[in-house]
Amino acid sequence: MKASKNRKPRLIALANQKGGVGKTTTAINLATALATKSRVLLIDLDPQGNASTGVGVPRNERGVGAYAVLIGGSTLPEAIKPTKVPNLFLLPADPDLAGAEIELVGMEEREHRLRLAMQAAETTLGGFDYILIDCPPSLGLLTLNALVAVESVLIPLQAEFFALEGVSQITRTIERVKRALNPDLALDGIVLTMVDRRNNLSDLVSNDVRAFFKDKVFKTVIPRNVRISEAPSHGLPVIIYDLKSTGAQAYVQLAAELLRRDRARERETA
Ligand SMILES: Nc1ncnc2c1ncn2[C@@H]1O[C@H](COP(=O)(O)OP(=O)(O)O)[C@@H](O)[C@H]1O
Ligand SMILES: [Mg+2]
Repeated sequence: MKASKNRKPRLIALANQKGGVGKTTTAINLATALATKSRVLLIDLDPQGNASTGVGVPRNERGVGAYAVLIGGSTLPEAIKPTKVPNLFLLPADPDLAGAEIELVGMEEREHRLRLAMQAAETTLGGFDYILIDCPPSLGLLTLNALVAVESVLIPLQAEFFALEGVSQITRTIERVKRALNPDLALDGIVLTMVDRRNNLSDLVSNDVRAFFKDKVFKTVIPRNVRISEAPSHGLPVIIYDLKSTGAQAYVQLAAELLRRDRARERETA
């Protein structure tokens, strides 16, 4: 076994340039499920701030957040806040984050700002077991900052026509970042979201994605479930809003599968 004293938080970005595929929902609920057994930090890098709202931190309670950390006006430890979920902490999206995409262009180390801020906060971040980053729906500088700061990427993928074409864009970006900016980066897995079992197309696409990406695709699929879409308006992850719902149960299973995969990988590298 690897010495556990070298344990760092596990860093995962949820990315897909397409909007509305379940990135934020997966970030919120995976983070919440993992927080039942470990300390988790959720970083909201989407100017829309839906992950922040979804864990019960509304706009007027956010204060400084990801923008201030990226631009250098604030440190990570100053900006991290507790959420409604025990053991789950948040680096919120602040209102200025929308401008960061453009402001970052002219800055030094523009793709590395988040990684550098995280390195500077190593002691604080060492207190977390998992750090999940919710990315905006683009492959711009905010997403690049996430991909440079993490070791693995999780791609939520909606099982619909053209899904495979969409996923090739993000996998190409991952390869490019790996070559040029972050050699440690790996595609951790693909999560099929909003799966409708009564819909043949959903099945066909799921089969295609599995045929192509093999065991990179999580066995757990997230079904389309109305409770999942209701939860954010209550400022709660669906796992807390309605734990018994099929949507919440799927996310509990997804977290368990992620933990199993991690343990299997640790054994391989031991
Ligand atoms: N499994 C699901 N079942 C029903 N609605 C969902 C599901 N996953 C996400 N949604 C809803 O779909 C919309 C887009 O999801 P979201 O997670 O915000 O996507 P993204 O972050 O990729 O833009 C949201 O309104 C969300 O509540
Ligand atoms: Mg989102």
